[in-house]
Amino acid sequence: MITIVSSTNQKNSRSRQVAEYYRQQIQAAGADARVVDLADLPVDFIESALYGNFGKHDAFNAVRDLVEGASKLVFVLPEYNGSFPGVLKAFIDGFHYPSKLSGKMVALVGISDGGSGNPLGMSHLTDILSFMNATVLGLRVKIPFLKKNWVEGEIQDEFIKTLLKQQIEMLVKLP
Ligand SMILES: Cc1cc2nc3c(=O)[nH]c(=O)nc-3n(C[C@H](O)[C@H](O)[C@H](O)COP(=O)(O)O)c2cc1C
Repeated sequence: MITIVSSTNQKNSRSRQVAEYYRQQIQAAGADARVVDLADLPVDFIESALYGNFGKHDAFNAVRDLVEGASKLVFVLPEYNGSFPGVLKAFIDGFHYPSKLSGKMVALVGISDGGSGNPLGMSHLTDILSFMNATVLGLRVKIPFLKKNWVEGEIQDEFIKTLLKQQIEMLVKLP
């Protein structure tokens, strides 16, 4: 099962919409996928699920297990202040160590209102995933200018659509 992480805890986010679109595309390519939305994390997890409270918060563990138990992963990363959202790093800091992501294949999609499509956030997360011994696909897809490029649940730019399709094909094919 491929798990797609919508990497913000903002409710009804566009990351969630893009993650859902990605899920449908994976299914069309013949593989199983599910979306994990960080908006479903318990709001108190920073106090009640990390460090000395590791493993004690069932609702947090349930979300974490979906990510740690995935065969492959996709992170949809909205650009917040030139990087990925802080809530994703806090979530990752609640994972097991040594990492259960070790040896797993990960695809990244950056989205932003501005013109960049979050390349820096994808690089920042790549460093962290490398530390965890996960492998990030070289093809990282950027969706900038969201108001123009994401309309009614569909990517408008044909080149971005093609890149996303290629990324999905690679991800599905790889062991
Ligand atoms: C806290 C915060 C910081 C943001 N910083 C940036 C930024 O640095 N560059 C940018 O292009 N857009 C920025 N945005 C806009 C988001 O990239 C855009 O709204 C996002 O891709 C939509 O995703 P979301 O609905 O999943 O949050 C920011 C939005 C928020 C909430």
